[in-house]
Amino acid sequence: MTASGRGRAGAKVVLLGEHAVVYDRPALAAGVPIHLDAEAWPGRGPRLEADGPADERGAALVGQAAAAVGLDPGAWIVRVRSEIPPGRGLGSSAALCVATLRALADAAGRPLPRADELALGRRLEVLFHGTPSGIDPAAASLGCSLRFRRGEPPEVTPLSLAAALPLVIAWGGEARRTAGAVGGLRERWMQDRACYEALFDAVADLVNAGERALVAGDLAAFGRACDENQRLLEAMGVSSPDVEARIALARGAGALGAKLTGGGAGGAIIAVAPDGDAVERALRAAGATVLRVLVPAAR
Ligand code: PMV
Repeated sequence: MTASGRGRAGAKVVLLGEHAVVYDRPALAAGVPIHLDAEAWPGRGPRLEADGPADERGAALVGQAAAAVGLDPGAWIVRVRSEIPPGRGLGSSAALCVATLRALADAAGRPLPRADELALGRRLEVLFHGTPSGIDPAAASLGCSLRFRRGEPPEVTPLSLAAALPLVIAWGGEARRTAGAVGGLRERWMQDRACYEALFDAVADLVNAGERALVAGDLAAFGRACDENQRLLEAMGVSSPDVEARIALARGAGALGAKLTGGGAGGAIIAVAPDGDAVERALRAAGATVLRVLVPAAR
């Protein structure tokens, strides 16, 4: 028997601007070529079958996504295979939401227009973390590098880089939840809005400077924007000693800049590294899992 519908979505990294993007500032993201595949099968549901423990959020995702594409929410099972490590800030939940939607839309025989996929992807991501900006489903949906600003509808602008962007992505064994990092920052913001709003404004300036650097092909300037963004993420309280140790290793091995990516509080880092061999060696020697990607210049 073959599946009634199939869908695939990719991982992402936030290049600049995570967390501030939840507070309406712009951010840059890029698709990463590791994927999550979903297959939709008719059956007693809603149910999500994936590696790891069954989770009621998975069933809710399948039910809501089925209803959104006009299918009976109780009549579908979605099976998932994923190359994206969860809990590392690489957008695994958003890829799960977008791939599930695509598989069910395929089963319903009605591929979703991009705008609907973005809106539904964001609505479904709420199941996994409370106040998402929508940048993750946008990156999972487009799969290219983009500038994002939240809103109804969000601003999603694909970027044309002057040159491909060489990144080393690295993470360790510690998993953490984006919802925890986002929620903790919200509590601190409620205690001292002026302080955090100033940090978010500084991030917005860096996002604009980083975008100009990428469009001009100035990797050194983009690397400096990454370093500066990391400093601001530390000030927001969303970094961690593990992440900072990996960033120091990457910089010491010649990276032009490095920062956490995504939710932080653990999770993955990105390092801008035109000559990535030494950076990769240093990170692997410290026990990190490493992925090298070249973000394409144009879509
Ligand atoms: O879900 P993650 O860990 O890939 O990070 C998403 C980026 C945040 O800005 C931290 C949250 C959001 O919804 O924008």
